[in-house]
Amino acid sequence: MAHGRFDNPVVASMTGILDIFRKQKLSERLTDNDRIDGKTCLVTGANTGLGFAIAVDLAKRGAKVIMACRSQIPEAGEKVKKISGSDNVVMKYLDLSKIDTIHSFVADLKNENITLDFTVLNAGVALPKAKKTASGLDEIFLVNYLSNFILLNLLLNNGIIPNSTISKNKKLEDKPSRVIFISSDSHQKSSFIDHDEFGRYFEYGLKKGMNNYSYYKLVLNTLAVEISKRMNKDTANPDVSFNVICPGPVNTNIVRDAPWLIRMLLKGIFSIFFQSPEKAAKAVSYITISNDFEGKTAAYMHMFNPKEMDYKIYIPEEGIKLWEHSVEVWKRVDENAVLNI
Ligand SMILES: NC(=O)c1ccc[n+]([C@@H]2O[C@H](COP(=O)([O-])OP(=O)(O)OC[C@H]3O[C@@H](n4cnc5c(N)ncnc54)[C@H](OP(=O)(O)O)[C@@H]3O)[C@@H](O)[C@H]2O)c1
Repeated sequence: MAHGRFDNPVVASMTGILDIFRKQKLSERLTDNDRIDGKTCLVTGANTGLGFAIAVDLAKRGAKVIMACRSQIPEAGEKVKKISGSDNVVMKYLDLSKIDTIHSFVADLKNENITLDFTVLNAGVALPKAKKTASGLDEIFLVNYLSNFILLNLLLNNGIIPNSTISKNKKLEDKPSRVIFISSDSHQKSSFIDHDEFGRYFEYGLKKGMNNYSYYKLVLNTLAVEISKRMNKDTANPDVSFNVICPGPVNTNIVRDAPWLIRMLLKGIFSIFFQSPEKAAKAVSYITISNDFEGKTAAYMHMFNPKEMDYKIYIPEEGIKLWEHSVEVWKRVDENAVLNI
């Protein structure tokens, strides 16, 4: 059975605290003067926490920001407008635990002829136990992994993320559109992907729930490397770039579903030691917009430090098997699955 690195949230948090004291090598490479006027950004899970702060930061830099959320519509968007001083912010409904909403979200972007320069896949959950969704899949598997696979396939197929590989709508002079996966360094040392149990629903409790979080980040990172290979014949000259970042420990409400006592303990640790979402969002903006990442794909940053992901993520067979199993599960649960990549 697959497992993640941590099954104790307090140990995971303490490991995170140490990260804050590490030198942030490239933090001066992003300044408030780095602008992205005229660009369009999508941020999932942007109504609160890190995603909200990313939306504010990108809006301040002059981009049109599309906040794809399942709640707080339109209040969160109004707040982003107010804090960023930009009116160029829209909210759209997207619930990653409901596959039909991914289709309607993508259809909506297509109808509006929207193309994305930057796509930040931020939404995620940390759930203390198994939770069956309407599709029969476990919620953490669906929200933290498979829905990102589905969303990316649909955005690429429809040319909403412009590309020359499938939709062939990218102009020669266009810079590669960039996709950023918000991950976690806790993925390091998670087990190999269990391809036999992949996508299978079963009941489990707190311990497995906790280590599922880091395990599905390893799965997500494996997707980032695999899709990067599939979309880029020449990875030194990407058609679309797919990079990954761990924002480090951030004081958000990510533990909202933990049992009461653990939640209170963690909230105390978070509020004293963890970075604010605003601070953590800077590293995300850096990997998202900086010229330093031009021509780079499948890169990984841990806050402002370049790093290698877990070695298993780079094993070619792991990515191929993950892709095949993701396709199988998508087809099984969604009669509108469209596969071109
Ligand atoms: N906090 C940390 O220390 C930390 C460290 C490393 C990585 N991260 C990653 O950072 C990302 C953001 O997390 P956070 O810390 O900001 O936590 P958060 O405050 O709990 O925010 C999570 C976001 O994801 C959204 N979301 C959850 N389920 C969704 C669904 N089914 N459909 C659409 N959106 C959904 C939430 O929307 P609702 O408000 O509607 O639920 C919320 O906007 C996650 O990927 C997390 O794994 C966090």
